[in-house]
Amino acid sequence: MKVAAIIPTAGTGERFGGAMPKPLADLHGKSVIARTLDVFERTAVVDRVILIAHADYADEYKAVVKAEGFKKVSAVVIGGATRSQSVRNGLRALDKDIDVVLVHDGVRPLVTSVMIEEGVALAVEMGAAVAAMPVKPTLKVVEPKTHVVRETLDRTLVWEIQTPQVFKREILDRAYADDSEATDDAALVERMGVAVRVFKGSYTNIKITTPDDLIVAEAFWRS
Ligand code: C5P
Repeated sequence: MKVAAIIPTAGTGERFGGAMPKPLADLHGKSVIARTLDVFERTAVVDRVILIAHADYADEYKAVVKAEGFKKVSAVVIGGATRSQSVRNGLRALDKDIDVVLVHDGVRPLVTSVMIEEGVALAVEMGAAVAAMPVKPTLKVVEPKTHVVRETLDRTLVWEIQTPQVFKREILDRAYADDSEATDDAALVERMGVAVRVFKGSYTNIKITTPDDLIVAEAFWRS
């Protein structure tokens, strides 16, 4: 069995602001993307890594891969206008021998080897598996125009979905076969009627979206 990780890191970072894209921001002495890639390099079950880069920063990302000596990164692929398009470009670059595909946001550097291993094992067994955690706050659906509360969700049924998201290759290939769009990979698989299982992510496995997230990630890194 061969496992490849697709790491979409081609977002424009509009919510992050600043001169530098968030994957190149510093997290305790190394870039965010170096921290993320390092976990995959050290996790034995992952054979290959495809890094998806924004065209403007592909050279910087390649320089990080070279400087850190990441041997599993087999390709740096240019991303698309949306996350779905970026992942689709990654799928096209997969070698024929890959059986299991893991997708992980490049801006989640606090992923662990345990999460990756658990996700791969569950996807091999079940076909599709995503990292998730029960939500802590009370969540309500609010009418977008009037700002009136429509309903309060039952918190015991609502989970925050993270990455890694892991799939048998054949399933993910089918999910991305047309031009469908979604904010994560599992949503496309769900639409096909395929059951997606959850496994334990972590409250520290945050997605670095705004500058505050970097402060939180730094605190988690130290702890
Ligand atoms: O936009 P969002 O926060 O959902 O991004 C999640 C991940 O997808 C990030 O690592 C981001 O760089 C990546 N992405 C991408 N191509 C895009 C948009 C987002 O690779 N066009």
